[in-house]
Amino acid sequence: MTRCVTVKAQKQYNVYIGAGLLSEAGERIKALMPDVRAAVITDSNVAPLHLEALQTSLKNAGIDSSVYIFPAGEQSKRLSTVENILEWLAQQGFSRTDCVIALGGGVTGDMAGFAAAVYLRGVRYVQIPTTLLAAVDSSVGGKTGVDLGAGKNLAGAFKQPEIVLCDTDTLKTLPQHEIADGMAETIKYGVLFSQKLFDTLAQGKPDDLTDIITECVSLKAHIVEIDELEQRERKLLNLGHTLGHAIEKCSNFTVTHGHAVAAGTALIARAGEAMGITQKGTADRVEVCLLKHSLPISCDYEADKLAQAAMSDKKRSGDSITLVLIDRIGECILKKEPLSTLREYARYGRK
Ligand code: NAD
Ligand code: GLY
Repeated sequence: MTRCVTVKAQKQYNVYIGAGLLSEAGERIKALMPDVRAAVITDSNVAPLHLEALQTSLKNAGIDSSVYIFPAGEQSKRLSTVENILEWLAQQGFSRTDCVIALGGGVTGDMAGFAAAVYLRGVRYVQIPTTLLAAVDSSVGGKTGVDLGAGKNLAGAFKQPEIVLCDTDTLKTLPQHEIADGMAETIKYGVLFSQKLFDTLAQGKPDDLTDIITECVSLKAHIVEIDELEQRERKLLNLGHTLGHAIEKCSNFTVTHGHAVAAGTALIARAGEAMGITQKGTADRVEVCLLKHSLPISCDYEADKLAQAAMSDKKRSGDSITLVLIDRIGECILKKEPLSTLREYARYGRK
């Protein structure tokens, strides 16, 4: 059965989760945007697997579409790729009444959403996440953007989609490594907000991910509703991300986002315990859960190098940075710290 979560941000939209949604995409998009032309953005891995089903669905609904395919991977998430997409949109004659469709993981969604935010000063867009990570996190909430040389996601825009269609059948072609990436963000929601969700995930990956995705999307929708532009509560969603982004950067993006967030979460759990902020025993529970999903709980980089890489994090303001620390499983806090303490967190967190 298809589930639906409504996100009541400044723009209200529905996130549908269920099997077979790709084949319904055309009709659902047509119902929202009757006379639209669609610019489908996807990557070189997803195109051979899922593009045809989407194109058939769009065609059956009478929606004219063109496709832009970029080389898969985080290395593509740069302004240069967005520039190419924008030039292509213009060459294809897409207008303000048309829409962009992101078919793929977080890299595709972030870049296609950013292109939609700036093309003609904004056109509508649709998220069709095909990774677990994109399903539970990046396709919802309207954060779009690209990486800069200085760090992750440093250029971007808030731009909410018109609709999110998560076809759980597409997740069946995901390699194990990418499933684990998504599990890292899923575990994040448990550590942040729900002991029950955490305990479920600590037992391993459920066969049917529909309930888990729906729960994560509901939790994220609530946070986006109360703090769309990340002034307060939304910062909590960055649990594990300050050190995680630093790990991604230090590895020259060879460590994928979910794996880096997993290690970042384990590091901050251990650091929090060492500093007397996090309830004793929490770090062990976080580690056991991450390991159950074949996720890393540490990294090879020295504390100084990690702290240096974390300096360019977006959560920095002036000489301080807002860190997400774990109180206990299901309860986290925001703590503004001087930048100089980053090294301490990295040092205490390293195993
Ligand atoms: P990704 O988009 O690179 O996808 C991971 C890999 O899986 C890629 O090789 C892709 O081609 C492949 N793939 C995608 N769908 C597939 C499928 N169904 N079958 C087989 N292969 C498939 O990366 P990701 O892990 O989905 O997302 C990570 C990105 O998301 C990072 O750039 C991160 O910064 C961003 N992110 C953004 C937000 C946000 O709120 N905007 C939140 C979390 C993460
Ligand atoms: N992925 C964090 C956020 O959307 O705020």
